[in-house]
Amino acid sequence: MSLTSAPNREILGHMESFDPQKPYDALPLLPPDSAKTDTVAVLRQENKTVSALAELKGLANIIPNQSILINAIVLQEAKDSSEIENIITTKDELYKAVSSTTGKYDPAIKEVMFYREALYEGFKRIRERNVLSMNDIISLQQILVRNNAGIRKLPGTALANDKTGEIIYTPPQSEEAINALTANLVAYFNDDEASLIKMAVLHYQFESIHPFYDGNGRTGRIVNILYLLLKQYLDIPILYLSSYIIKNKALYYKLLIDVTKDGKWEDWIIYILKGVEETSRETIVKIRQIKDLLDKTIERVKERIPKIYSKELVETLFVNPYCKIEFITSSVGVERKAASRYLRQLVDIGILKEYKVGKENIFINTDLFEILKK
Ligand SMILES: Nc1ncnc2c1ncn2[C@@H]1O[C@H](COP(=O)(O)OP(=O)(O)O)[C@@H](O)[C@H]1O
Ligand SMILES: [Mg+2]
Repeated sequence: MSLTSAPNREILGHMESFDPQKPYDALPLLPPDSAKTDTVAVLRQENKTVSALAELKGLANIIPNQSILINAIVLQEAKDSSEIENIITTKDELYKAVSSTTGKYDPAIKEVMFYREALYEGFKRIRERNVLSMNDIISLQQILVRNNAGIRKLPGTALANDKTGEIIYTPPQSEEAINALTANLVAYFNDDEASLIKMAVLHYQFESIHPFYDGNGRTGRIVNILYLLLKQYLDIPILYLSSYIIKNKALYYKLLIDVTKDGKWEDWIIYILKGVEETSRETIVKIRQIKDLLDKTIERVKERIPKIYSKELVETLFVNPYCKIEFITSSVGVERKAASRYLRQLVDIGILKEYKVGKENIFINTDLFEILKK
């Protein structure tokens, strides 16, 4: 796939050709004009973001069992990214759902669980194949929305202002335009030149193509994480940009449309780069707190209940902040009776708290949950 340069905006007279009410089939192909994207201010911010991400990538290794972080951060990101689309859940409900075997949760919880599933699937595919195709993206969106409508065919998809209902953007509609744009997008995603500026450009482009009837926001935010994994900015999916987008949501929408209307790439790119920097730094703090708690917990168990101490036992309480007897039987390899006794002893020394959810006993690692909730 060749990356032909974008149709010249001046020649197209895009100021005239962009009409929020009409399908924007003239959305330019990537790459955008580098004079607009690689400005001094952007490059300065990119440096800061790259170093924050590098620190995060390195620090992730201080946690021995990577599932601890992946579980914690992915669930957080799934919750927040869904919340941007007004799918609201609580951490407590989510962890209950994760540890539940009944599978009976409310619709919002289900959506967050689907998001998590889609993100894991993307992570797996990137690791196995080192490339992301449009079919992969379609599969992820299918996991998310639980239907196989795939790429939009019927007209009628438009983005409207939440409050006024006014149409602010109508994505491309002709099959030809959508095909050309998606092919160009994945070629740009997979090409050899990696940069965080490109990730910001890709996110704008993906949202502007808006290839699906629904789930574009969430799929696009998963694609961002996959980009960081593919280009080895991170080894595991622990970016949680969505918390930043929630805090700055009006600006997120404004900056997207400003690129379309006025070619204002700089502000958009800086917005995304700042978000990656900020959330990387927050995650760094969180990882340090988790590591401290893990070390303290290991010490406490070794000292107070040395007979039952094992690395696997303690790590299980961190992989599953809401723990159940079954998790211990399988990770430690003991019978139910012993597992149950272990958990009760952990309650006795103040590491876990026991709750009943329906008929199930759940053991919560309360100090960890406090860290994760923040
Ligand atoms: N002006 C715009 N141009 C392109 N994309 C936009 C614009 N405004 C918002 N978006 C994107 O559209 C997403 C919402 O699309 P939607 O398909 O409903 O996704 P989801 O189902 O995940 O909510 C937002 O999260 C945002 O990323
Ligand atoms: Mg939606």
